[in-house]
Amino acid sequence: MKISLMALLVGLAISLGSTAAIAAGGNAKAGKDKSALCQGCHGEKGVSADPSFPHLAGQFAGYIEKQVTEFQQAKRNNETMGPMAATVTSKQDLKDIAAYFSSQKAMKGKGSKGKNAAAGKKLFLKGNPKTGVYGCKNCHGEKGKGKSSNNPLFPVIGGQHKAYLVKQLTDLKSGERTNDPAGMMGNIAKLLSKKEIDAVAEYISGL
Ligand code: HEC
Ligand code: HEC
Repeated sequence: MKISLMALLVGLAISLGSTAAIAAGGNAKAGKDKSALCQGCHGEKGVSADPSFPHLAGQFAGYIEKQVTEFQQAKRNNETMGPMAATVTSKQDLKDIAAYFSSQKAMKGKGSKGKNAAAGKKLFLKGNPKTGVYGCKNCHGEKGKGKSSNNPLFPVIGGQHKAYLVKQLTDLKSGERTNDPAGMMGNIAKLLSKKEIDAVAEYISGL
């Protein structure tokens, strides 16, 4: 019952093009101090130095909230991030922290120079008709910046660390990560080859 209701809600959110259900209400100013621990790995302004820690700068607040909540509920698992999520015990604190990172100057790449970038671009924009993969831009936006803050369902990925993107796509493909709504992203990742993952991550990280 709970699961089918969730599926229905996700379906509704998608068809309305809005996830008002997980809308913000956070105070970015208050979130600055509250996020001191998080800044240790994700960077003072949400731009992290180590590629195993994702950038959070300019990420949608609703997406940050969803991920942290799901780490807390063990719907998404990571031995480093899981215990960090557990330290955020107040919903308002989480909203404030999410608002802080979301309000920072958005993550941005420096262009993609790798030899597979052209193949990655093609996959990003047009997908792969042979394997039935949709173009990533259909959900993540032309530049990988998502759709709008009213629709935090589709995260900002443009300018994210390449190594992090590769890890997520690999985890979604293997079934290690399964917290994507209705299996939407896992179903796509399962159709990608290792080479395609490398190429598309190369391109996206440069956006
Ligand atoms: C010790 C380092 C560390 C600290 C401190 C830390 N994180 Fe993380 N965080 C990680 C790692 C590693 C991942 C990537 C997990 C994975 O590979 O799935 C992550 C992932 C995330 C994600 C998912 C991002 C995405 O694009 O899906 C969010 C959101 C996040 N962290 C928020 C926070 C918040 C909020 C705090 C503070 C309460 C925090 N983190 C503290 C290491 C850390
Ligand atoms: C039908 C819509 C859709 C398409 C098409 C799509 N995605 Fe996604 N993607 C999503 C959703 C929804 C999520 C968020 C999952 C969650 O909430 O945990 C996501 C998450 C991701 C993430 C994890 C981001 C993070 O910060 O952890 C990556 C990486 C990603 N997508 C890459 C891609 C790539 C590459 C393509 C094209 C090959 C693609 N996506 C196509 C819907 C889509």
